[in-house]
Amino acid sequence: MIKKLLIGTLMCFSLLSANADEGMWLPSLIGSRIKDMRSKGFRLKAEDIYSINKASLKDAVVQFGGGCTGEFVSAEGLLLTNHHCGYGSIQQLSSVEHDYLTYGFWAMSRGEELPVPGLSVSLLVRMEDVTERLAAGEKREDIIAQAKQGDGYSASIEQMYYGNQQFLFVYQTFRDVRLVGAPPSSIGKFGGDTDNWIWPRHTGDFSIFRVYADKDNKPATYSKENKPYTPKRHFTVSTKGVGEGDFTMIYGFPGNTQEYVTSDAVKYVAEVSDPMKIELRTQRLEIIEAEQAKSAKVRIQYASKHASIANAWKKWQGEVMGLNRLGTVSKKQAYEQEFTTWAASKPEYAHLIDSMRAAYKAVTPLYYVRELYTESVGAIEAVNFALQVANLKSRSKDDKTFANALSSLHANFMKNYSVDIDRAIAHKMINEFLKRMPEEQIPAAFTKAYEEKCGITSYIDYLFDNTKLLDNEIKVEEVANDVMIEFAQMFQDIRKQNATVSYRNLSNIPAVEKWYRPYMQALREWDKERAFYPDANFTLRVAYGTVAGYEYADAEYHHPVSTIDGIIAKDDPNIYDYDIPQSLRDIYAKKDYGRWGEEIHGRYSVPVCFLATNHTSGGNSGSPIINGKGELIGINFDRTWRSTMSDMEFDPTICRNISVDIRYVLFVIDRIGGAGYLLSEMDLK
Ligand code: ARG
Ligand code: ASP
Repeated sequence: MIKKLLIGTLMCFSLLSANADEGMWLPSLIGSRIKDMRSKGFRLKAEDIYSINKASLKDAVVQFGGGCTGEFVSAEGLLLTNHHCGYGSIQQLSSVEHDYLTYGFWAMSRGEELPVPGLSVSLLVRMEDVTERLAAGEKREDIIAQAKQGDGYSASIEQMYYGNQQFLFVYQTFRDVRLVGAPPSSIGKFGGDTDNWIWPRHTGDFSIFRVYADKDNKPATYSKENKPYTPKRHFTVSTKGVGEGDFTMIYGFPGNTQEYVTSDAVKYVAEVSDPMKIELRTQRLEIIEAEQAKSAKVRIQYASKHASIANAWKKWQGEVMGLNRLGTVSKKQAYEQEFTTWAASKPEYAHLIDSMRAAYKAVTPLYYVRELYTESVGAIEAVNFALQVANLKSRSKDDKTFANALSSLHANFMKNYSVDIDRAIAHKMINEFLKRMPEEQIPAAFTKAYEEKCGITSYIDYLFDNTKLLDNEIKVEEVANDVMIEFAQMFQDIRKQNATVSYRNLSNIPAVEKWYRPYMQALREWDKERAFYPDANFTLRVAYGTVAGYEYADAEYHHPVSTIDGIIAKDDPNIYDYDIPQSLRDIYAKKDYGRWGEEIHGRYSVPVCFLATNHTSGGNSGSPIINGKGELIGINFDRTWRSTMSDMEFDPTICRNISVDIRYVLFVIDRIGGAGYLLSEMDLK
């Protein structure tokens, strides 16, 4: 009954949009937005976006490698995503002799494409609202088992609106994915972590893969006999360009937003969690950077680790700034007060705000312990490796199996490990742990151990001097009583306790989340002006808006389109992040842009990146940016850092996503990569 009501209210609410361009919509329900989309310049129909009866744009979108999005651009399985999404794969295939990260990689024929072990992409086959089936008593496992249509299929049921609605998602996963092309990092990661989350931006953040299938076009593990996969649908690529005010739509897999949480949850993020994580990561980054500056080897080894530590670190800084600027906490407090006034006469809702507050009070300290542990002791690589070794030992049936598995685990770990970095990080992080952790959470065994070694500094050195895990050769018989394993195991209770609060967000801990179910129902009854869309949870979504600049500061307007001139302005051979390939300098010097040149901002140039108002989040990287005709105009890769509070509050005046213009992608493939042959399998318009 309640559920019926809910679906009814959803239909009428979703027609109302409070905030232009806010929202990440479920593709199967996009019909409710089509009128609004068409009024902004979309020309297609709902079933062009999502259909289970015919090929639709959804068949051209994939979840890439677990955390990103990618899109097909040819009938032969050619796939685009971001350079930073392909980064791990490119690094995995690189060595000092074949440094594809630095110099790029271009397969000049199918035979040269490089298989990437472990990489997979998943396509959404269909989605279905199963709320009523579950309410009628069907078992989750049965629904999931029924939904899988054979090998290569997987299914899951995901909650929307804190469990008020449940959707079944059926995926097909392809495991033979090969690297086709990647620009040098000086293009693909141009601006590095300095420009990350920043506009104006000039990053050619793309890489190219190809999905392979068996002779029946079905998923298969790598084999020489596999053939390029024929997707049901691939994107037509527009070479006509974008301009301010143009309609844009993004189709992808955003990971995590919390738009409906109460002020207590925002307060925790803005005042406790983010600041703690930022401070700890600042220290880790300083250590890594100092060592990277000393050695080219360490620079490559820690490139990927550094990028991922720095990425969230900067995002959190923008998030705190944005939440403070918007006054999200006090706005939400006022909202909650109004809600409570409305709910006072409704016994089923009247207590909700108090109940949520009490639940947060009970679980927040534990959630903080989890986050602090993860960012401090849990950030020490040797500790994590020690835990993996211990785990492997307990899982191995005999010494011989253990020895074999251990040596490959060890080799893999050591490949990208610097003990100098890790030891320095351990010193800092263990001290932070002691300083910040509530006394009763500090393991007694740990206190005893360092007191016996005359203090924390000498104890940490003792661990690193005496462990055998980090030797060049690792021996089974020495592992049993290793000091690093012993140390790691002192934190077992914390890890066990952490597991009980190990949910996506503080508000998803069951003791809190259970109040969000009725709260969401109540909000829909009460706040009739608000457009409700489910929080991001790595399921496929559509967001739409327009290409748009914004007022960055008083009298300082940021244009939505950047050009190759901006790359040249930043170019500096002495700064690693801004040292572009000579070939790009040469092309610029002659303005030899071929078919990719055009008048922009009154100059003859090549477009590079553009801003739009699409509501995106982490996971949207690599997502296709589509024009009103459904053609590909760019690849999403970032937001401005001032936008990142959009994971909790979207502000249409300032929130902008950043995409690499598809024409720059084509230009780089063609003119820098010399792989123009790839363009002939695309449909360029
Ligand atoms: N900020 C973007 C996202 O959150 C891109 C990150 C990769 N780039 C980098 N320089 N670390 O993932
Ligand atoms: N760069 C992000 C990603 O990797 C996208 C974002 O957070 O805007 O998914």
